[in-house]
Amino acid sequence: MAMLIDGKKISAEIKEELKSEVTALKEQGTEVTLAVIQIGNDPASTVYVGNKKKACEFIGIRSLAYELPEDTSEEKLLALVDELNAREDVNGILVQLPLPEGMDEDLILRRISPMKDVDGFHPMNVGLLNIGQEGFVSCTPAGVIELLKRSGIEIEGKECVVLGRSNIVGKPMAALLLRENGTVTICHSRTKDVKSITKRADILVAAVGKRGFVTADYIKEGAVVIDVGIHRNEMNKLCGDVVFEEAEKKASAITPVPGGVGPMTIAMLMSNCVKAAKMQKGI
Ligand code: GUN
Repeated sequence: MAMLIDGKKISAEIKEELKSEVTALKEQGTEVTLAVIQIGNDPASTVYVGNKKKACEFIGIRSLAYELPEDTSEEKLLALVDELNAREDVNGILVQLPLPEGMDEDLILRRISPMKDVDGFHPMNVGLLNIGQEGFVSCTPAGVIELLKRSGIEIEGKECVVLGRSNIVGKPMAALLLRENGTVTICHSRTKDVKSITKRADILVAAVGKRGFVTADYIKEGAVVIDVGIHRNEMNKLCGDVVFEEAEKKASAITPVPGGVGPMTIAMLMSNCVKAAKMQKGI
């Protein structure tokens, strides 16, 4: 039976560490501030934004909430981003996605100063990651690396297969595994014979966005299986891209859904906020 990789526990440890760091920074006169912008009231976004605020409160990060109506103009949003970019007391800026239809996501994400881009979505940070230089890394894939490291799973020299090539998860995931000296393959919707590739994986990261895509026959005996997917089944229960009951019989270690990768995303966002504050202060 596979070892369960407990994202809830590991994210709680990280948040405790950050809380101590933020307290120490405060004593030295540095407050960490995150500005979160939400446009409209998409229910899922409201839950995510609420969780981010709660995490900030726990750690001692000041959070500024900007809740703008659905019909906010692009100009107005860009003006707010400009204002927050210029404010010395704001360290991190996050524009919650998805944006209302008609808004140019690329234009808005590019307007956020790369120094305050705690989501790691700005092309400059994406580029830095890909040339192996220090910058902000997208939170979910960064969280996966942290889960592996803190579970004592070595990446160096391992066959790593990433299912999915999104800009937010698949691509940065592959870049991070490569940075850790893994041998990396990305599979996507046009890949031929996906199973023959995933069956080679020592570390398999599923970020396909399809419920129950990864069944037992995708997995090598003893592989580490990381499930980034989040879906609801017919009984409204949360589940991932991986059929957990099948996979846990073959894997040596596996993340559950919920309680695996999910809680790590916010922990890494908080970590990026602390990093931003330190970088801006030259600490
Ligand atoms: N919407 C869903 N996930 C995310 C995320 O990680 N960052 C932002 N900005 N929006 C999201």
